Amino acid sequence: MTLLQDLEARLAAALSSTLGEPLTAAVTPTADLRFGDYQTNAAMVLAKHRKINPRALAQEIIDHLQLDGLATADIAGPGFINFRILPAAYAAKAAELLHDEKLGVPTVGEGQTVVVDFSAPNVAKPMHVGHIRSTIIGDSLGRIARFLGFKVIADNHIGDWGTQFGMILHGWKTMLNAEALEADPIPELLRIYRDVNTAIKADPSVLETCKNELVKLQAGDPENLAIWQQCIDVSKRGLRKIYEILDVKFDHWLGESYYNDRLAGLVDVFLTKGIARESEGAICIFSDGAKNPEDDPFMVHKEDGWTDNPAIIRKADGGFLYATTDLATIQFRIDEWKADRIWYVVGVPQQLHFRQLFDAAARWGKIGNFQHVAFGSILGEDRKLMKTRSGENVQLTDVLTEAIERAANIIAEKNPDLQGEEAEEIAKIVGIGAVKFAELSQGRLTDYVFAWDRMLALQGDTAPYLQYSTVRIRSIFRKLDAPFDAASAVITLNEEAEIHLARLHARFGELLPLIIEDFRPNLLANYLLELARAFHSFFEACPVLKSEAAVRDSRLALCELTSRILSTGLGLLGIKCPERM
Ligand code: ARG
Repeated sequence: MTLLQDLEARLAAALSSTLGEPLTAAVTPTADLRFGDYQTNAAMVLAKHRKINPRALAQEIIDHLQLDGLATADIAGPGFINFRILPAAYAAKAAELLHDEKLGVPTVGEGQTVVVDFSAPNVAKPMHVGHIRSTIIGDSLGRIARFLGFKVIADNHIGDWGTQFGMILHGWKTMLNAEALEADPIPELLRIYRDVNTAIKADPSVLETCKNELVKLQAGDPENLAIWQQCIDVSKRGLRKIYEILDVKFDHWLGESYYNDRLAGLVDVFLTKGIARESEGAICIFSDGAKNPEDDPFMVHKEDGWTDNPAIIRKADGGFLYATTDLATIQFRIDEWKADRIWYVVGVPQQLHFRQLFDAAARWGKIGNFQHVAFGSILGEDRKLMKTRSGENVQLTDVLTEAIERAANIIAEKNPDLQGEEAEEIAKIVGIGAVKFAELSQGRLTDYVFAWDRMLALQGDTAPYLQYSTVRIRSIFRKLDAPFDAASAVITLNEEAEIHLARLHARFGELLPLIIEDFRPNLLANYLLELARAFHSFFEACPVLKSEAAVRDSRLALCELTSRILSTGLGLLGIKCPERM
């Protein structure tokens, strides 16, 4: 039980005995520690209903509160109840966490399956720096959910069946450089994709040729299918390399093409059920009229009022679409994987697609907790969207290579003792950590301008700062003559810096469940920075190794717990910690 849960339980008991009926109320951390550690507005809310004086009610509640050993309580302002946790309770909590490999994190996801749909780049197009957001955020959410006890299925729903294959097929047949493909396949696929685009601009009839290639592919033409398969294979190989550098793993790679043979049947079901109907030759899903137009994804407001905003699931030429595939995918995930929740980590521009998808799935009877975990765009220095087609934009691999190089240079400068493989490994951990942390430490919905220096910063509020903090703590333990047994240490908190450190330790388990409520790994990133800062203040204010035995052991135990929470927390962001740096 977290301290917050403990307070809520005691508060519920006090409310019930004060007002003579079963009641519960929320306790939250205070915004300002001067007012205590936690607070509740229960008295104000309950007094309002009952038309009684809130401060008087607050006093009555406090009189009924059994807080012995845990906290003190007082009234503030119009009737807030503020709680201050006793140092002894923080000490007991720290001791408890040292024995808990979950570090106080409750397993709220027990018995539930969540599919995390993330990364999902489009094959034969380069993995663009914009995909980095989905990959890094999705991977972190999956790790956090797993730690919270969910059964997590990470699925890479790659775009392996899009219209881009018309262009790729035409390019493959007319302008492929076999040697270049052999040497490094993804750039060569990218080149033909771009060159075909240029050719189309010069001569629109090329577009027709490409469309014909696509139709042939979709009709099962063996030559085109074989080329398509080769493209998929080389692209996957390239992607795997990137995921390996990033330390990102998937349980499945069920791309769009996996669902091809379910699409025709799906459209029939939608027609029979009356969820979709024909319109100008195409099969479309329209509004069912059950919602207000403002909440209806199949309605849109134009100059002359609300009009239909249908989703096409089969084109007049018989082709199926992105939405059709996603509907089939939901069915599969629910039927085969027993998914309770599906999280789609995909950019903001696809918001309408997901609103329509979730609405259509519900009308179809596919029930689950589906969430579009949207994120903002990465903009070029001109503040315009960075696009795959414009040619000049930065690719993900370039960012990663540069990150590792910059880290290597700094390590060579700061710690020339580190050499060879060890230095390389550390540079990788530090460089990739910096890139991931730059992404995860900000709100996912903000757009940001891509800037090398921000992405690769190694100083200030960065992963290297956190990694360095763990290294520094480990080095304290290396100075000991005998191994330290944190589990048997008695923790006593006297100094303010010690209490604050233990306060933050206790928060870890309260914080993690909040992160998946609205998908904000930046809460964890910022918490870890706060913890590291608290550690450095503690280490400055409180001598550890030079203290007499009992104090020393208590402080070493705090060091140990800090180090464990830092490395576990970084691990949940997908960031490793080096032994030295
Ligand atoms: N391939 C898509 C894109 O790059 C993302 C797919 C996301 N997942 C999904 N189930 N729609 O835009």
